[in-house]
Amino acid sequence: MLRIDPEKHSCRAEAFEASDDIPSNPVLASGRPTIGDVINERFSRRGVLRGMLGTAAIAGIASSVPALLSHEAKAAGAQTFTFEEIAHGVDETHHVAEGYNADVLIRWGDPLHGDAPEFDPHNQSADAQEKQFGYNNDYIGFVALEPQDGEEARGLLCVNHEYTNEEVMFPQIGRQDRALDKGGKAFFNMTPELVAIEQAAHGGSIVEIVKRDGQWSYDRNAPRNRRITTRSTQCMVTGPAAGHDRMKTSWDPTGTRVIGTVNNCAGGITPWGTYLMAEENFHGYFLGDLPEGHPETINHERYGVPGGWYAWGMYDDRFNLAKEPNEPNRFGWMVEVDPMDPGSIPIKRTALGRMKHEGGESVVNKDGRVVIYMGDDQRFDYVYKFVTAGTYDDNDRSANMGLLDGGTLYVARFNADGTVDWLPLVQGEGPLTAANGFESQADLMIETRRAADLLGATPMDRPEDVEPNPRTGKVYAMLTNNTRRKADQVDAANPRAENAFGHIIEITEPDMDFAATKSTWDILVRCGDPTKAEVGAMWNPATSESGWFAAPDNCAIDGQGRLWVTTDQGTNWSKTGTADGVWALETEGEHRGTGRMFYRVPVGAEMCGPLFTDEDRVLFVAVQHVSTDGAKDYEPFGRNSTFEDPATRWPDFQDDMPPRPSVVVITKEDGGTIGS
Ligand code: FEO
Ligand code: CA
Ligand code: CA
Ligand code: CA
Repeated sequence: MLRIDPEKHSCRAEAFEASDDIPSNPVLASGRPTIGDVINERFSRRGVLRGMLGTAAIAGIASSVPALLSHEAKAAGAQTFTFEEIAHGVDETHHVAEGYNADVLIRWGDPLHGDAPEFDPHNQSADAQEKQFGYNNDYIGFVALEPQDGEEARGLLCVNHEYTNEEVMFPQIGRQDRALDKGGKAFFNMTPELVAIEQAAHGGSIVEIVKRDGQWSYDRNAPRNRRITTRSTQCMVTGPAAGHDRMKTSWDPTGTRVIGTVNNCAGGITPWGTYLMAEENFHGYFLGDLPEGHPETINHERYGVPGGWYAWGMYDDRFNLAKEPNEPNRFGWMVEVDPMDPGSIPIKRTALGRMKHEGGESVVNKDGRVVIYMGDDQRFDYVYKFVTAGTYDDNDRSANMGLLDGGTLYVARFNADGTVDWLPLVQGEGPLTAANGFESQADLMIETRRAADLLGATPMDRPEDVEPNPRTGKVYAMLTNNTRRKADQVDAANPRAENAFGHIIEITEPDMDFAATKSTWDILVRCGDPTKAEVGAMWNPATSESGWFAAPDNCAIDGQGRLWVTTDQGTNWSKTGTADGVWALETEGEHRGTGRMFYRVPVGAEMCGPLFTDEDRVLFVAVQHVSTDGAKDYEPFGRNSTFEDPATRWPDFQDDMPPRPSVVVITKEDGGTIGS
């Protein structure tokens, strides 16, 4: 019997990323240093706006924060970014800075093989979707290939497909608003076939792209094109949790084989050219009740399982807890894929822990070990890094393929004195013992969050991308927002209560040692409108009226080492007056903390996947869930989007076409460096 708890069914379009149905971190009330303890310490340290902030600002007492930005007060000296920025705003199409082109490279439903069916939104099937580009493109990675005759560049684009929006994806579905349904019809008109299409639309796409005459396109007939789906792709499990009893199901008595990967949000490309697909909100796909007194009860609660966001558990036993209580333990991992071999088996690398994984951006440390930074995107969850035990071999790709099975996972504690302690998650150390339920490293990896709770990690405001800059030893952590943080829960690294607009933390690894266990940190910007005192934002005064942003989510560092940030405001765009987009953000010198708006998405979309390549002559971005978030707040439209009646039909603008999540390729008209 499936239990559909309406209290747990928040509106996914608004809350997918914020995971509203999750219990708060249980250790929050455990007496961490409060802001009152730390103001004086923090005040002596460098801030973005040296000398401009009062104690109240640091404490997040918003009403007493002075307006921090004067548009007249332009700082002198040259800024790194010289493009002419675009204005804040919301409308039905996308916009890029003058002098640049923004073109759709590939869209949901585009065929990935010569024999794949053309996209027909009125006649979808799971088998067709398995051969077509998936839904809600998120992370974008690139692995270069040798150009063929007449080509300027060629490579493998690796794209995550995070989730599905039934209301704009399928005809005759209507709005999937769980909160409105209390009668067991929570999933409206979903059918087994529609669920199968959804499962085939999740996962990832690997597709060869090519540059000819300055123009990028995808190669429909390339041999390495491939879909990875939740529906049919067999994955393997390696590392400490592989084969453990808690990983076994009736379908897989070995605990080492899983069908599919799900909710692949951010990710990474390793130094050896494999593709990391982070599994984020896996809890949302499960339905049903655990058997009474089941030993996984506490574990599942810590991850919000079952989330009940999808109808899958009604038709697919894997996603029904009553039938497969261990299945959730097989999701929430970092998945490594070799994109060079279209027959390669995706591998769930359990040494990197189980969480709502975001980001797998890596760097080769000076001692040859590889360090991967990761966020766990939940209110009050943590920032992590994984340090391999072995070292990277530039001359032997195959020797690197097992690197992610051995190493140490660390979780961050941001101290009030501006230092970070990276706390190792090692069985038997400190509280991570059998007495606390961790009998093995497998237990520790399956319950990474609970282990990090016990270690005293710092609960953060939704960490997503965490990106190292290999040139500077700096690491940037995007903290999207956290409106649930109460005044007595603020701390030095999360300084605002009811943080609706997010902030960016800059970590400095000492002496360029990315494997260090003691680092330092600072806040780069506190996001939101700097002209509104109650927001408590903190930007360089040189930031223009469209240079500030809210809800930093993904980021990229270009070939010159410059930081670019993309946003995910959800429905909050009606508060900021601008759709999500791409901003360039100065990190060095007197312009540090100055933003500049480069690209803007259509109404209801989120901006994902920024990726620079081709010596910064191209920027790929992923426009996700077009027309969904806050459509009813968009005045010219004023209602919720459906397949038949969406807020925008971007990018095709044809009456019989729904909105389509798409990867966009941005180039400079003169072929030069993006952002100059
Ligand atoms: Fe799917 Fe946390 O963004
Ligand atoms: Ca996020
Ligand atoms: Ca995101
Ligand atoms: Ca990134």
